[in-house]
Amino acid sequence: MKTSGDAVPSEWIVVQAVSTIGKGARAEQKGQKPLILWMTGLSGAGKSTIANRIEEKLWRCGHHTMLLDGDNLRFGLNGDLAFTDADRIENIRRTSEVARLMLEAGLIVICSLISPFRRERMLARRLVGADEFLEVFVDAPLDVCQRRDPKGLYARALAGEIPNFTGISSPYERPEAPEIHLRTDIADVDALADQVLEELRRRGATTCGA
Ligand code: ADX
Repeated sequence: MKTSGDAVPSEWIVVQAVSTIGKGARAEQKGQKPLILWMTGLSGAGKSTIANRIEEKLWRCGHHTMLLDGDNLRFGLNGDLAFTDADRIENIRRTSEVARLMLEAGLIVICSLISPFRRERMLARRLVGADEFLEVFVDAPLDVCQRRDPKGLYARALAGEIPNFTGISSPYERPEAPEIHLRTDIADVDALADQVLEELRRRGATTCGA
């Protein structure tokens, strides 16, 4: 069940052993500023496609990256989770914890999952430093996503075959103040990936694409 309030629940707070090699040292060795790009949006909005393009561009510039994609994680780490509110909350919690570990390792982490609930996105944000988390809203209107229907899931959800489908029978809470807003209904993948790189350059996180 979803809970309300915005405090980080005690079960989310992890006591960590202190490593002699700090996060800063790992990042310095890689010559980059680690951060999390948290891509949220409806199924079919284009999250995975854009996430992949961003990663390719960063990788070509020599950055050390990792892509955490909801669909893939659900085959392994999150393979025991379904699409109830409680399971989505746990899906986001685990993914954000993994992202945090990868951030500590010095990586630029791209998370791509629907993550429909504002509260859980906020909790993911609070796990790391204020300048280390960028919420990227991958935005396309529901009717556009339904028309695209790349996996045929909207048709099945509308036919009542898939319960709790985001946008149909389960809510999607739009980000209120994302750091980056990508309109996939009016711009192409390459331009949108460049929009993200531009924001990273503006923040001094890369010179990639300059
Ligand atoms: S999240 O809501 O828990 O963040 P996640 O990104 O991991 O979702 O998985 C979404 C993917 O699972 C979709 O792209 C789609 O392929 C598939 N899927 C299967 N059932 C559902 C459902 N009920 N709602 C949304 N996506 C679903």
